[in-house]
Parts: sequence; C-alpha cells; structure tokens
Amino acid sequence: MTVAIGRVVVLLGAPGAGKGTQAQILSERLGLAHVATGDLFRAAVRDETPLGLVAKGYMDRGELVPDAVTIEMLLERLARPDAAAGILLDGFPRNIAQAEVLDKALAEAGGRVDVAPYIEVPEADLVARLGGRWICRAGGHPYHEQTRPPQKPGVCDLDGSELYQRTDDQPATVQARLRQQLGALDAVVNHYRSNGVLWTVDGRRTIEQVTGDLLGAIVPATGAEARGSK
Ligand code: AP5
Ligand code: MG
Repeated sequence: MTVAIGRVVVLLGAPGAGKGTQAQILSERLGLAHVATGDLFRAAVRDETPLGLVAKGYMDRGELVPDAVTIEMLLERLARPDAAAGILLDGFPRNIAQAEVLDKALAEAGGRVDVAPYIEVPEADLVARLGGRWICRAGGHPYHEQTRPPQKPGVCDLDGSELYQRTDDQPATVQARLRQQLGALDAVVNHYRSNGVLWTVDGRRTIEQVTGDLLGAIVPATGAEARGSK
C-alpha cells in the first residue's frame, strides 16, 4: 500500500497530555492531515462496523487494540489522498511494533518521520484533565470544565454539536489506561530519541504556550509554514 511521503509529524504523549487539542490547532495552521487512531476507532464503534466491534472491548478496558487491526486501519488511512501533502499523527505509534511498521512504510515511499514532539505531563495532571474533559460528537473537539470551557455549556464552539464525556474517561478506566499504556509510550519515546527526531515539550504550560513550543519544533524540522496566529 502506498502511504504519504510528505511531511510526517508524530505527536507523542500520555492519555490526556493534549495530543488531540494540539493536533487540531496545528493541522490547520500547518496544512497537515490530522490522523488520530483513537478518533478512527471511535467512529468505527459509533457506526458499529466489524472493526468497531473488535475495538470497543479493548478501549473500554483501557487496553491497546491489537496491532494487526490497528496497523491495517492506519495504513488504509495514510493511503487516502489528503495524506500525501503531509500528516500529523495523534495516537500512533503506541508501541515499538507500530513504530517499526510506520518507519518501514514511510521508507518504502521515500519518506521518514521528520519530528516526534513529546508533550510531557505529570500523571496527577493527566487524571485531572481526563476527569474534566468533554468532547463534541461531530468533530471530537476537546474541552475541559475548568481549563477550556465552551462558550455555551454542552455545545461545541466550532461546530455547534453536542458535547459528551468519553466512556474511557471514567476514573477506573483512566487508571487502567495509564497503568497499561505508559510503559509502551516510554519505549516509543526512546525509539524516536535514538533516531534523533524526539523533541520534548513541557505540557503543563497553557494550550497556547504549548502550541508555540510545538511550532518551534515542527517548523524547522519540516520546513512547513505556519498560517494564522491562533
Ligand atoms: P486515544 O483517543 O488516542 O486516547 P489517548 O491516547 O488516551 O489520549 P486522549 O485522547 O485521552 O488525550 P489527548 O492527549 O488527546 O488529550 P486532549 O487533547 O483530549 O485512544 C483511545 C483508545 O483507543 C486507547 O486507549 C486504545 O484502546 C485505542 N487506541 C488508539 N490508538 C491506538 C493505537 N495506535 N494502538 C492501539 N490502540 C489504540 O486533552 C485532554 C484534556 O486536557 C482536555 O479536556 C483538554 O481541554 C485539556 N488540556 C489540553 N491541553 C491542556 C493544557 N495545556 N492545559 C490544561 N488543560 C489542557
Ligand atoms: Mg485524543
């Protein structure tokens, strides 16, 4: 399968670190396709597709969905036309096997991961962020009860759709996600550190400050031009 050979940015971070928040801002400002495996799985669960039926149990338990189905879904997404100009990956790769498949697929297409910014946030902050998160039904735009409330309660500022809380943001599932996924994230961080493309950003800063820090990493590494000021 032919995959994107344009700019490739891999946004890394623990559950709740701010990957989705930043990916939505950056993909628009940099003209990159936002590819989020969690969003693809949630769409499949909502549409009750065979993939969704497989993924649901793993997501509800806070576990990673098996590599075989995840990788197939990702490669299909990268073969779509909008990925050719460049992609911003959010939530993939999640382990070394996925990182190696991505490296190989990009190398076969003459490309590579240009930069892997890692949004670092302490575990206690992650729990608070996920507990107060609301996202919209139409576009998955994230909000937070305290740090990023919508202008009108329960309604997305951007597309007017209803806000809801993800089932995997229940406290017990949040604990399971952190327990089961942080070790694999460390391995992926080390993979990109060894490849010389890792860039760590302090994710405790405000959303706007984190965006600025990420642009400071991505623009020089990719040569992309940032549009707009927000
Ligand atoms: P996925 O949807 O990828 O979830 P996740 O990695 O757990 O990350 P989240 O979406 O919860 O957090 P985020 O980093 O996007 O944070 P956000 O911007 O929303 O995956 C879900 C599940 O799907 C997985 O558990 C797994 O089962 C499966 N899956 C997905 N990909 C897979 C793969 N590759 N392999 C196998 N399985 C896979 O921000 C969080 C909150 O914080 C929001 O309320 C936001 O407003 C707030 N916030 C953001 N930034 C700041 C800031 N700077 N200051 C204060 N608050 C902030
Ligand atoms: Mg997300």
